[in-house]
Amino acid sequence: KAADDFFREHAGLALTYDDVTLATLYSEILPRETNLETELHERLRLRIPVISADMDTVTEAPMAIAMALNGGLGLIHCNLPEREQLSQVSRVKNNIHGLIQEPIKVSADQTIGDVLTLVEERGFAFRTFPVVDENDTLLGLLPGHTVRPRYASTKVAAAMTPRAQVQTITEKELGKNPIAKADQFFNEHIGIHKLLVVDDDDRLRGLFTISDIERIMQERHSQLKPARDDQFRLLCGAAVTATRNSTGELDRDRILTHIGDLVERGVDVVAVSTAHGFSKGVGDTVKLIREHFPDLPIIAGNVTSGEGVSYLSKCGANIIKVGQGPGSICTTRVVAGVGIPQLTALYVCAKAAEQEGVRILADGGITKSGDIVKALTLAHGVICGGLLAGCPEAPGQLLEINGKVYKQYRGMGSLAAMQAGSAARYGHSSKDSVRKVAAEGVEALKEVNPPLDVVLTQLAGGIQSGMGYLGAPNLVALREKARYIQVSPAGQRESAPHDIVEVKTGN
Ligand code: XMP
Repeated sequence: KAADDFFREHAGLALTYDDVTLATLYSEILPRETNLETELHERLRLRIPVISADMDTVTEAPMAIAMALNGGLGLIHCNLPEREQLSQVSRVKNNIHGLIQEPIKVSADQTIGDVLTLVEERGFAFRTFPVVDENDTLLGLLPGHTVRPRYASTKVAAAMTPRAQVQTITEKELGKNPIAKADQFFNEHIGIHKLLVVDDDDRLRGLFTISDIERIMQERHSQLKPARDDQFRLLCGAAVTATRNSTGELDRDRILTHIGDLVERGVDVVAVSTAHGFSKGVGDTVKLIREHFPDLPIIAGNVTSGEGVSYLSKCGANIIKVGQGPGSICTTRVVAGVGIPQLTALYVCAKAAEQEGVRILADGGITKSGDIVKALTLAHGVICGGLLAGCPEAPGQLLEINGKVYKQYRGMGSLAAMQAGSAARYGHSSKDSVRKVAAEGVEALKEVNPPLDVVLTQLAGGIQSGMGYLGAPNLVALREKARYIQVSPAGQRESAPHDIVEVKTGN
């Protein structure tokens, strides 16, 4: 294959994105006709092969929601209390549905105070709940305006709208196009925002909300389509750490309980993210998760060798993160003298992944859509941190300096992030981090970006252009067809705008 020939010729020389260019090939396909879907696992299909990094200045619920709405995936970081991470996952999974098949219900003898606690604990953005008995028979609807602290001691039974006044639809009436039927219902019933679905015995079978239906109708016209699970919920991933107990052993119970909770909230994939994935700690954690959650997709990493990929896949990982030190805020290569330029790392890992039947993700060092095209000639997806950290959906305050607006972006191996909890990812304990261990990342600022959908539409457009030049209708064809050419330093200079006074920067 072309990749084998190219990398054999360059054996002993490690290359990264800017060192190569892709040769153009005969094409019968227009960029807009190309398909960006990628299958990372049979239960994890993305519409665009882009994942937001599990970093505390990149991915919390707003970013994960926006990523999934645009067809990608967000990995919620784990530099926060477990309970808080669970509530972030719930916010993503509860965000937009078609038919919510398992709506959150309350019972008539609970108090409004109980309901408020539920809302707070699970991070729900909604406050209207169906009221059912122990057989799920519908008793009424608790309206959102009654779920207030001032009514905390009131019983749900006293506050709810009784069954006779609640509009419902039966499963049979929904017919073959439930979304269209729900849309019609909301058009015909001005002021009603929830439509409850019942069976012939008046048992609750689901619900539609007007905002979900409106969003879905809009989505049908938007360029990037959402990435959803088989229950029509947005996809969401979460990072997990190899938590250790006081004797330094893996805290099996704590890890398993947390993952059980994440699964219960509907998480689609967990990521065991560390700087050194080819290690016993990461392998043991992956094995533990695999043993107890046989069907859960697991991402693990990071590695830069074929042996690392084989090791993690044998432990039970399905998707392996590749990259040590390419990240924009990383100093691993400077501090530890370790790591391999990213394109060569991707090549060796892709070879091993093919043999093991697992996927790889290109993690770090991506600064433009062209890098993504090059990465996707070897990987099934890319992970971006810096490219997305300036978006309004990323966590963090805006900062104005000399009239320019910035957002904070920091490495998870920076001292500040390790003090906030990520030390284990770099093989230190959080106590060490206070005593100034060698940081492997920096704290930085990013100029603010436009909203994520604008950034992702630009990136997707760039990837599609690349595929058009290679005549690749989909990502499988891109991987098969790619031909690489090494570029000289003069060639690199020629590749970017030059010898002009730029008045408007490109993307
Ligand atoms: P980009 O280039 O997208 O990279 O900003 C994001 C990726 O960088 C990794 N990462 C780190 N690597 N020290 C490192 O050596 C760090 O402090 C650090 N923090 C994040 C991580 O893989 C992320 O996805």
